[in-house]
Amino acid sequence: MIRLIKKIFKMKSPALQIGDIAPDFKAQTTEGVINFHEWIGDSYAMLFSHPKDFTPVCSTELSRTAALKSEFDKRNTKIMGLSVDSLEDHERWQEDITDVATLCKGESVNFPLIADKDKKISELYGMIHPGELDNLTIRSVFIVGPDKKVKLSMTYPASTGRNFDEILRTLDSIQLTAQHKVATPVDWKSGDDCIIIPSLSDEEAKEFFVNGWKTIKSYFRLVPDPSKK
Ligand code: BEZ
Repeated sequence: MIRLIKKIFKMKSPALQIGDIAPDFKAQTTEGVINFHEWIGDSYAMLFSHPKDFTPVCSTELSRTAALKSEFDKRNTKIMGLSVDSLEDHERWQEDITDVATLCKGESVNFPLIADKDKKISELYGMIHPGELDNLTIRSVFIVGPDKKVKLSMTYPASTGRNFDEILRTLDSIQLTAQHKVATPVDWKSGDDCIIIPSLSDEEAKEFFVNGWKTIKSYFRLVPDPSKK
C-alpha cells in the first residue's frame, strides 16, 4: 500500500543514513529463507547488491568476495549478496562464477544471494538508481553492526567493480573505533598509528592512553593502534 501511494505521488523514501537502523526483511535466498536481523545476530553484516546475474563484472565481484570470506569471518562479519534476478538464475549463474574464479583470485560462492524479484528489499535500501540503471540495482554496500545500525554505505556505478579489500580495511576501522577512542587517518591499515578523537580533552585522554601520544597539532594526537597492545 505504502509502495503504491509512493508510486502514485512519485515520492522518494529518504536515503538510508549512517546511524539509521538497517530495515529488517524476510528474503528468499540461495541458502533458504532468511530474516535479516535474526541472521545478523551478534555479528556484523555486509549486504551488497549487484546489477544482474550472468554479467562479467558482477561475476568477478562475487567470486572475489567468496575468496575473502575467511577474512570477513575473522572480523565476525556475515556476507549477503542481492540482485533482482530469480533464485533459479542465481543457482545457474553460480556455476559460471566458479568457472571464472582463477581470473580474479576468486572462489565458488559461499554466502547467500537474495533473489529480490519483486524489488522490495532493493527499494527499501535505495539500491535502484533509475538515472544510472533503470529497474536494476546498482552496486550498493551496507555494513550493518550487531546493533543493526548502518555503519557504512557505499555506492558504485554498474560499470565499476568494487575493491573488497577496501571494504575489509574499512571494517577494521569501524570495529576498532567502536572499541577505542580513536579515529583512523587516510589510507590507515590495521596496525598503523591512530588519531585520538578530537572531542577527548588532553585530561580525559590521559585516562585512556596511559603511555601518552605524539602531538602533531593541538587537535591532532597520534597513538599506536590500541588493538595491538
Ligand atoms: C557487469 O557486471 O559486467 C555489468 C553489469 C551492468 C552494467 C555493466 C556491467
